Amino acid sequence: MPAIPENPAAFVSVEDVSERFAAHGYIADRRLATTVFLLTRLDKPVLLEGPAGVGKTELAKTLAAATGRRLLRLQCYEGQDESRALYDWDYGKQLLYTQMLRDKIGDLTADTPDLASAVRRIEEQDSVFFSDRFLAPRPVLDAVRGEQPAVLLIDEVDRADEALEAVLLECLAEYQVSVPEIGTYQAKIPPYVVLTSNNTRDLSAALKRRCLHLFLDYPDAERELDIVRSKDTGLPEATARHLVEVVRGLRGLQLRKNPSISETVDWARTLAVLGVDELDPAVLADTANVVLKYERDLHRALDLLPRLVDPNRVLPEPGHHHDGHGHHHGHHHGHQPGGHQHHGPGHGESTEADGRAVRAAMDRPGRHDEGYYGTPGPGPTQRPASGGGQGARAFAAVARRRTD
Ligand SMILES: Nc1ncnc2c1ncn2[C@@H]1O[C@H](COP(=O)(O)OP(=O)(O)OP(=O)(O)O)[C@@H](O)[C@H]1O
Ligand SMILES: [Mg+2]
Repeated sequence: MPAIPENPAAFVSVEDVSERFAAHGYIADRRLATTVFLLTRLDKPVLLEGPAGVGKTELAKTLAAATGRRLLRLQCYEGQDESRALYDWDYGKQLLYTQMLRDKIGDLTADTPDLASAVRRIEEQDSVFFSDRFLAPRPVLDAVRGEQPAVLLIDEVDRADEALEAVLLECLAEYQVSVPEIGTYQAKIPPYVVLTSNNTRDLSAALKRRCLHLFLDYPDAERELDIVRSKDTGLPEATARHLVEVVRGLRGLQLRKNPSISETVDWARTLAVLGVDELDPAVLADTANVVLKYERDLHRALDLLPRLVDPNRVLPEPGHHHDGHGHHHGHHHGHQPGGHQHHGPGHGESTEADGRAVRAAMDRPGRHDEGYYGTPGPGPTQRPASGGGQGARAFAAVARRRTD
């Protein structure tokens, strides 16, 4: 039995993490709960990587809620500098004070013979204006300096420049922030630090080394169903289970943007509002725009929805293409070289026969939807397909079709 920590809000075990997260609406699997438990016990930041919408940001929010800590969030972006991440000087306040203290400043310099000596005299008072009182703390300093324990969420750290990453690293290593004019602030209670990344660029090895690392993939069917259930969508149990299977099928289709957990939940709510209690391709086609946000993805999914709804159609018969699978692929996706989908002009759609082009097409610039699991070709964002996940399976599926 682990000792109960001093702070009553701290977790006492991995199970305690799971239970308290569930009480706050976050369904954690064992690996995730273990990582969170370790993060709170080892005083190490955790780096969460994974595709969009798998609950990275939500994990930090839930951690704050479940431990009663303040949540401080640093949303990273390109060009961000220390004055946005660590601290800045409150120029407005400094100005106001100098205005109000005009007479005092006048007295101070009254007996100086010239401008240069007046400036020197004021310079001697710098420390008054560059003191704690005039500091504008940003999330990192706030987390270190604040009296209340905090969860510091450094969201989408891959969007920040490498220079800022280095600065953050320094702070995270020691849980301290140095302000040259004042000194060093050291956290009395180390914040729980959660960094998230969508892998738009590689993070430094130094950062990775200092963090616990957790790759969040799409959940397995049971956990996704648990999540849908926990959101009280109003969709009957069996229908929700079926829907989860359909969404998982969609994730295997090499879409440009896979449906995320929140989109499964949105779809369940949508279907519940429409009073659907049995899934059929027509009702899913009518509502698929809830989960698919690119026209190309939508077209592709509409073609394949019937067999996603009724997986029996995909069972291949040895040695020959049956209708539900072979025909669809042959016709719509062009196993024949040069075949194109009939998706209207302008999509630049390539065929499944050319898997590389399909993957390359996924790798267009845009927030979160880069070919997350590693598009082909050299480049800093390339990531090998992670074993076992749906993304990895999707790539394997393309390879299989190419050899059909
Ligand atoms: N394990 C979970 N339990 C309950 N809800 C979850 C879980 N995972 C994800 N969700 C739901 O999915 C939504 C999206 O999650 P979140 O915003 O944390 O994704 P993200 O990984 O940060 O995505 P992005 O990379 O786009 O920022 C959450 O608001 C939450 O409702
Ligand atoms: Mg997020």
